[in-house]
Amino acid sequence: MPAVITLDGPAGVGKTTLARRLAAALGVAFLDTGAMYRAVAMSLGENGWELPEAEIAERLSRLCFSLHGSGEETALAMDGFALGDELRSEEVGRWASLVARLPVVRQCLVTAQRQMGSAKSLVAEGRDMGSVVFTQAACKFFLDARPEVRALRRYHQLLSLGQTPQPLEELVEALRIRDEQDRTRPISPLKPAEDAIIVDTSDLDVEEVFAQLQAQAAACL
Ligand code: C5P
Repeated sequence: MPAVITLDGPAGVGKTTLARRLAAALGVAFLDTGAMYRAVAMSLGENGWELPEAEIAERLSRLCFSLHGSGEETALAMDGFALGDELRSEEVGRWASLVARLPVVRQCLVTAQRQMGSAKSLVAEGRDMGSVVFTQAACKFFLDARPEVRALRRYHQLLSLGQTPQPLEELVEALRIRDEQDRTRPISPLKPAEDAIIVDTSDLDVEEVFAQLQAQAAACL
C-alpha cells in the first residue's frame, strides 16, 4: 500500500525544496501540485479562468498528467511535457491562484493527484494535500513563516532560476494577495489539516527544517 506524506503551506515558505529533499531521503516520488495548477493556468491562457465552465471542463478532459521516477529524479509531466522551473514566475503563480478557485479545475486535478498517490508512495506538496486530497496520509506537515521572510525566500529562488524578481516590497504584496485569495476561497482553502504538524520556519534555515521533517516523517512511517 503506497504511503503519502503531505506538505502544505503558503507561497514562498520553501515547500518545493523541502518536499523534493524529503522525497529523495525517503526514496519516494515528489508531487508538486502547484506545478499542476500552474500548467493548467498556462494551458487555459490569459484570462482562462473567465472561460465558460463547459469549455474549461472540455479542455481539461483532454489533459493527461504522469509522474515517473523518485526523489530528485521525479518527472511530472502534462501531455508528455515536463513541468519544470519555467512555470515558476510570480505572474504564472497569480494565474494559477485564479484558476485554482474554479471547482471544475479542482475536481480534475484532485482526481489526477489521488490516482498518482494510489499508484506510488510520494511526498505531495500544495495547499490542500493534508486537508482534502490525502486525508489518510501517513504524516501531514503545514509549514508557515512570516510574510517578509517568505518574500525574501521567493526573491532568492527567482534569482537562482535566472529570473529578474520584482522589487522586494512588490513581492511581499504579490504574495499577500495570492495567500489571501488562497485562504479565503470557498473550496479547499489554504489551511492546516486538523492532524497536521505545524512548523514555523521563520527563524530556521533549510537544514534545520529538513532535519525536523525527516525525523518526524521517520516516526510516522
Ligand atoms: O505552490 P505554487 O506557488 O506553485 O502554487 C501556485 C498556486 O496554485 C497557489 O497560489 C494556489 O492558488 C494553487 N494551488 C492550489 N492547491 C494546491 C497547489 C497549488 O490551489 N494543492
